[in-house]
Amino acid sequence: MKDIDWQNHGFAYYPTKYNVRCTYKNGEWGDLRMQRKKTISLHIASTVLHYAQTAFEGLKAFRGVDGVVRIFRIEENAKRMQSSCRGIRMPQIPIDKFREAIMYAVKLNEKYIPPYTSGASLYIRPFVFGTTAAIGVKPAEDYEFIVLVSPVGPYFKGGFTETSPFMLSREFDRAAPCGTGSIKIGANYAMSLAAGERAHKLGFSQAFYLDPKEKKYIEECGAANFFGIKGNTYVTPKSDSVLPSITNASLMKIAEHLGMTVERRPIALEELEEFEEAGACGTAAVISPISKIVDVDNKKEYVFSKDGLPGEKCKKLYEYLRGIQYGEIEDTFGWNSVVEFDL
Ligand code: PLP
Ligand code: COI
Repeated sequence: MKDIDWQNHGFAYYPTKYNVRCTYKNGEWGDLRMQRKKTISLHIASTVLHYAQTAFEGLKAFRGVDGVVRIFRIEENAKRMQSSCRGIRMPQIPIDKFREAIMYAVKLNEKYIPPYTSGASLYIRPFVFGTTAAIGVKPAEDYEFIVLVSPVGPYFKGGFTETSPFMLSREFDRAAPCGTGSIKIGANYAMSLAAGERAHKLGFSQAFYLDPKEKKYIEECGAANFFGIKGNTYVTPKSDSVLPSITNASLMKIAEHLGMTVERRPIALEELEEFEEAGACGTAAVISPISKIVDVDNKKEYVFSKDGLPGEKCKKLYEYLRGIQYGEIEDTFGWNSVVEFDL
């Protein structure tokens, strides 16, 4: 691997040597195959191309302080991918097969796992899509499951060192009521592009959405959940149209472990005034501390950091999470899978 300037690499694709593939045919998943080619050959009428029959996951492998490589919460990602598959009528990948494919992809690309000192990680992107040729709107019969990996730095500029501004969008929704917001399918991300572009043009990191039904409650942004800190309480939205973030679920457990109270409930927009700290959290984002959320329609600002620095509670949560991921803190929750390099 070429020397990467990790501080400036950001969350960008970097080609690695192998990917892992698995085909679903005649009602069953086949064997895992390693592949060097980075392209696929698809029928022009594949359901993925016309009807967006595709879902993905995102997880990370970390090279720890002790040199050991750990993957964070594989099983949760496997279960969420199953839920996404059910949601758009694709066959579920068995949890063991998912785990095996992830392990295989990481082992095959060991030399691309960033060094501990870089603070970077190996992003793992499993995805599945329908390949059957169809013109009618119906589920495919054949599917491809692929795992690619890519070394990455922070998703949001500055990572955890500085806070960044977010905006609030009423102009766009990310998901519909009774829609697909709670699963991780490609279509949701196509939906989020316009709001994201608008946010970037206006100088914000990303756009948060309000709930699509009443536009009263804060939901999440295009790639991360929201949480706010009020005193000793960690508050995060409960909504059927928010993606159940594995990072957020982990932070809730850590917050409790650190003696904080955790509330998962609808958060009305006006309540943002009451938070002393706030963050966007996710696998890619980790915790991106928020300086302010600007309601651009009402020209109102909700400020969470005046000096541009992350607050104390955010810092504690971040350090604990990263500590577990990099093997600095004992993994009492049993979240890590250690990679045994026995190839
Ligand atoms: N919300 C959205 C819309 C996402 O795309 C992601 C990223 O996966 C998250 C939240 C965070 O989820 P997780 O912590 O499982 O990565
Ligand atoms: C992740 O955090 O893994 C995500 O999926 C975000 C991604 C859309 C960049």
